[in-house]
Amino acid sequence: MPKIIVAVDGYSSCGKSTTAKGVAAYLGYAYIDTGAMYRAVTLYFYTHHVALTNPKEVSRALENIKIDFKRNQETGRNETYLNGLNVEDEIRKLYIANWVSEVSAVSEVRKAMVAQQQRMARNRGVVMDGRDIGTVVFPDAELKVFMTAEPEIRAQRRQIELLQKGEMLDLDDILANIRKRDLIDTTRADSPLKQAENAVLVDTSFMTLDEQIDLVTRLADEKISESIRKNNTAL
Ligand code: DC
Repeated sequence: MPKIIVAVDGYSSCGKSTTAKGVAAYLGYAYIDTGAMYRAVTLYFYTHHVALTNPKEVSRALENIKIDFKRNQETGRNETYLNGLNVEDEIRKLYIANWVSEVSAVSEVRKAMVAQQQRMARNRGVVMDGRDIGTVVFPDAELKVFMTAEPEIRAQRRQIELLQKGEMLDLDDILANIRKRDLIDTTRADSPLKQAENAVLVDTSFMTLDEQIDLVTRLADEKISESIRKNNTAL
């Protein structure tokens, strides 16, 4: 069976990661959360007081950063490790969310992350979610999905997510963070968030997670069948 790359890009809190995870589980593919990688870099920069305006400091810091994903045997969840330390919970906190867009706008950071992401998917068979997967990391991905939703609905979803983790935050603060990140992510000079030309637009404002997973799974199945047909005609 030919293996494809599924690129899931879009705004935060649209259900990207849950959809990507669900599709990866269905296909038996690896799931790679590239947002977690930028969050881990942000945590390192935060704890080591790295100045974003100092390119030498940024490069030196990047050389000292190793990011891995390991499966938690108990929960079955993929968790993010920064230099051997499990940082999965820490990187989801609001102080990281408040700084991650600035860190991920730095070209040196992006170069390092993109190179690692391309290595991770060299044998294809991955579902990767992020902001630039279909445009920059894998412009040749067989399936590209671009997810969006109303900012107010995304803020409500984020509030519930944070509550489940014990963080109680004002809806207005979350909405402000979402709007600020949208602005930085879509207007940065290097790899801004935008829909790839051949990406399928999915507005999840009024969709359940199951509906999102079903839709993207169906699209992936179609692309895999297409690859099989292409391979057969090439023989
Ligand atoms: O998906 P997320 O909310 O965990 O991503 C956190 C931030 O990382 C997001 O605000 C923008 C940045 N990001 C990026 O610039 N490129 C990616 N491929 C993934 C995330």
